[in-house]
Amino acid sequence: ESKDVRHKIVLTRDLGPDVMGLLRDREENYLELVLWDKEEPCNRDWILKNAPGASALIVLITDKIDTEILDAAGPKLLVVSTMSVGYEHLPMKELAKRGIKVGYTPDVLTDAVADITIMLALMAGRNARETMNIVNEGKWPEYNWAPFLFCGRQLSTSASSRKRTAGFIGFGRIAQATLSRLIPFGFTDCIYTSSPSSKPTPTRDAQLAQTLGLRSVRRVNLGTLAEESDAVFVLAPGGEATLNLVDEQFLRKMKKTAVLVNTSRGTLVDSDALAKALREQWIWGAGLDVVKGEPGISADHPLVKEQRCAILPHIGSATYETRVEMGTLAVQNALAAIFEKPMPAAFDL
Ligand code: DGY
Repeated sequence: ESKDVRHKIVLTRDLGPDVMGLLRDREENYLELVLWDKEEPCNRDWILKNAPGASALIVLITDKIDTEILDAAGPKLLVVSTMSVGYEHLPMKELAKRGIKVGYTPDVLTDAVADITIMLALMAGRNARETMNIVNEGKWPEYNWAPFLFCGRQLSTSASSRKRTAGFIGFGRIAQATLSRLIPFGFTDCIYTSSPSSKPTPTRDAQLAQTLGLRSVRRVNLGTLAEESDAVFVLAPGGEATLNLVDEQFLRKMKKTAVLVNTSRGTLVDSDALAKALREQWIWGAGLDVVKGEPGISADHPLVKEQRCAILPHIGSATYETRVEMGTLAVQNALAAIFEKPMPAAFDL
């Protein structure tokens, strides 16, 4: 680290004392920190005003970074580091073209998101939203225990069904961590879809099946995934290529007893089609941590009206443990790029 070079880092949110300490420690000698310190998404004009001369931008998924911002930053910009695993808010092609590095935060949030994915699968199958509302509204006294009252669909295998198939749209780190959590529930088979440009991996799939004690792990087409899954997990990156992958056609093919869980990006699911699928009972239920157009989802949104739809406000990675790790990694990525060290998590552009 050369002492005579001071690098400007523009940070679009205060990341808390643990993480900010990593930057403050170096501030005196090497860094000039420019911080948006409000508890609301960073204002675009503020970024444009402060970006000039920056070596690093450390950003969140709420910051839409585009060529105008890169131009404003100018030639000193070495890295854009996002505190997220998702990157659809970054202009990846443009960053690659300009030789600007990209840092992101894979791995550290995998467990937190996989945990909540299972929670949503259970909530969707077991009518959690509808039944909790009854209690919260003081209506429990109206409902005596009865043999089939509030019955939902079981996630785990049962005496009547020894076969359970998990279907994954996207089969990366979070999908595989979710799959391993489904093993104790007795899941027997796994099917998945991947981006058309990725190569088939039959050997990896066979090994994974063997390691997890599954009958099979198979890559299939979207139609087969819809037809054969007892639970569909949407866990692929957002962006144009995956827009509305779960549409009316897909939902009509799903089992009536199956649940749909989306813990990746709202853009992958056609909200109107899903609301219709729930209303007309083409599928059993849905668990969503993300919805297209979030956070602008009001009480009259078609999905919010559906009792079989459990919706959380994008909290998949929201544990203190994970968010500190994400912030730390985002800062480490930026510092490594600035000081010409290997970045712990560089996105391969
Ligand atoms: C991400 O990291 O992309 C998540 O959506 C935020 O938890």
